[in-house]
Amino acid sequence: MAGKAAPRVTAPAIAAHQRTDEPLVMVTAYDAPSARTVDAAGADIILVGDSVAMVVLGYDDTLQVTTDDMAHHVAAVARTRPRALVVGDLPWLSYHVSTEETVHNAARLVRAGAGAVKLEGGRKRLAAVEAILDAEIPVMGHIGLTPQSIHAFGGFKVQGKELEAAQRLADDAVALADAGCFAIVLECVPDAVARHITEAVAVPTIGIGAGRHCDGQVLVWHDLLGLAGTDRKPPKFVRQYAALEHDATAAIERFCADVRSGAYPASAETYHMTDGMGEALGLYGGEPEPELAP
Ligand code: KIV
Repeated sequence: MAGKAAPRVTAPAIAAHQRTDEPLVMVTAYDAPSARTVDAAGADIILVGDSVAMVVLGYDDTLQVTTDDMAHHVAAVARTRPRALVVGDLPWLSYHVSTEETVHNAARLVRAGAGAVKLEGGRKRLAAVEAILDAEIPVMGHIGLTPQSIHAFGGFKVQGKELEAAQRLADDAVALADAGCFAIVLECVPDAVARHITEAVAVPTIGIGAGRHCDGQVLVWHDLLGLAGTDRKPPKFVRQYAALEHDATAAIERFCADVRSGAYPASAETYHMTDGMGEALGLYGGEPEPELAP
């Protein structure tokens, strides 16, 4: 008898995470192959991040993707039916204009297969958070270095380094948790600030460049696997667990060499006609097809 499939991870299950439990693991994914690897590895949450703009689509920042783009990628991830919770990232301007647009855009990601959405910002975004929650959609918060604010921040910069800024971040986190966010991403903040925030809120914090005191950690799939390109230095917090860009290039180089030398395709990689038909068609000059070494 086939074993029962493990139950799918839900937003309430993440919210119920206890500080004494194992840390939560979130990894980004943007399509079916990346989602399959993250789920098979046992991560708790798959974030379909707007980082897709930079690591998949080649833009310099995350501001270029739309709700349509995000729904397209969420749907590809959701079609793999992962055990992990699928969180869809609301892109820039999808929750800044009006409450109505905000709720419709969040609903688009849910209809594409997300079990929750994430948005960037603290107290400034409480109205958006509350409206989405009111539509029964779980919301993950995201504060610190929020990449949708790079122009306002003047670049990709660590946030909360001064006391006042750190206190503002803590106040934002408390407000998001009180509003009902089921988890909060802390991006690029000093570890002491992340620790203070983690102790101040009842929901789990998930860090990226925020040190080890968070309740969980997230990395971008391409950074973790060494697929983020060789033209930019990875941020300090990235630990590369593989060098897939190098390995993929080496594999494709071998394919190029095999095609050029005639070693690919071999007989076993080829469809053949039934006995004698090649001869009847006058192929191979009436001779049997020469065998190539595999
Ligand atoms: O878009 C993304 O990948 C993110 C993570 C860095 C948290 O928001």
